[in-house]
Amino acid sequence: MYEWNEIALSIAKEVEREIVPLFGKPEGGKVIGISPSGDKTKLVDKIAEDIVFNSLKSLGVNIVSEETGSIDVGSDYTVVIDPLDGSFNFIHGIPIFGFSFAVFKGSKAEYAMLYEFMTENVYEGIPGKGAYLNGKPIYVRELNERAIAISFYTRGRGMGLIKRVKRIRVLGAIAMELAYLAKGALDGVLDIRNYVRPTDIAAGVLIAREAGAIVTDDTGRELKFDLSASEKLNIIAVNSEKLLKLVLETME
Ligand code: IPD
Ligand code: CA
Repeated sequence: MYEWNEIALSIAKEVEREIVPLFGKPEGGKVIGISPSGDKTKLVDKIAEDIVFNSLKSLGVNIVSEETGSIDVGSDYTVVIDPLDGSFNFIHGIPIFGFSFAVFKGSKAEYAMLYEFMTENVYEGIPGKGAYLNGKPIYVRELNERAIAISFYTRGRGMGLIKRVKRIRVLGAIAMELAYLAKGALDGVLDIRNYVRPTDIAAGVLIAREAGAIVTDDTGRELKFDLSASEKLNIIAVNSEKLLKLVLETME
């Protein structure tokens, strides 16, 4: 039996040791390749991913990682990982970025961890057993229709929503934004650019759902995704049916 929490945290801490000295430094942003989804791979992404691969190698599990893509060694377990979500923030000295680690047995989620480097907060999700922040249960907050706060990334679609909520944020690290939804800091996290990948959201979706969130695609159907580094997705994650209804009313 794998101790996923210990494995995930020890990898996160190792990534932290290696990359944090590069925080806010342009050298971390040097482009060194192209990821399977077509994004530029930066030096800091590569350093983080190399650590992950070295650490997971001895476990003999399948890996789906943002910069390298899928490595299938025929294991029952697949780790879907983005060792640095929020690379732009990291490189430019904006302290919102994190480590995203989700484990699947076959296609079923088994465990998820998000580690926020700057606060050292550890978010976890265990299917059927809840979501946790530093070991304490967390829940989405109750919707107050007069004070809705969402993270909302669009290229123009659904703009009517802006007038119907009080606060809009786009924080640049969707994994962490899903953690903020899970702990009740935001009412919703929406990215409807057809752009986020399973590696960005796999852990965050499990944690948010375990905290009580509803997570759908842009039509309101339960969000499903492949264990892949290249699939492009729309996501609507909200704390209530009421907010989901409001969001869907504004989607053309
Ligand atoms: C990015 C972040 C960001 C999202 C981008 C992603 P990365 O991940 O999740 O919130 O808007 O689409 O690419 O590239 O920094 O790991
Ligand atoms: Ca990344």
